[in-house]
Amino acid sequence: MKKVITYGTFDLLHYGHILLLQRAKELGDYLIVALSTDQFNRLKGKDAYFTYEERRMMLEAIKYVDLVIPEENWEQKQTDIKHWKVDTFVMGDDWKGKFDELSIHCNVIYLSRTPDISTTSIKSSLQAITQ
Ligand code: CTP
Repeated sequence: MKKVITYGTFDLLHYGHILLLQRAKELGDYLIVALSTDQFNRLKGKDAYFTYEERRMMLEAIKYVDLVIPEENWEQKQTDIKHWKVDTFVMGDDWKGKFDELSIHCNVIYLSRTPDISTTSIKSSLQAITQ
């Protein structure tokens, strides 16, 4: 069984996230999502609207996702890849080149982002509507 892993915050779940997860799953048989915890998001300066538990629940309901694990720090990727016997590490191409060093452990693939949608743009649009 080919295992794929991806990392992210996945706040205000949108179709860009779904398409990323769909394409990630197509690269193997079992998709693990390492979901940024609230504490790790604070460290990244990226405050999520939904809590970790709420984001986890939504991800677990997606048919492409087999397992959600917490992402608690920048350094855990190598440990996760070994622990879960991951074949392919996937990220959107906003991270292109950033994780190439992991290629000694597994395939590293950057998928093109879906244009014109992001959590940040949703937040801005909602803010503009309510002003
Ligand atoms: N992603 C994507 N296409 C988009 C938005 C996100 O493929 N339009 C991917 C990202 O590249 C990442 C994953 O979805 O691999 C999770 O992204 P995340 O940063 O949680 O979502 P964004 O919408 O990019 O959030 P933000 O605006 O807060 O950066």
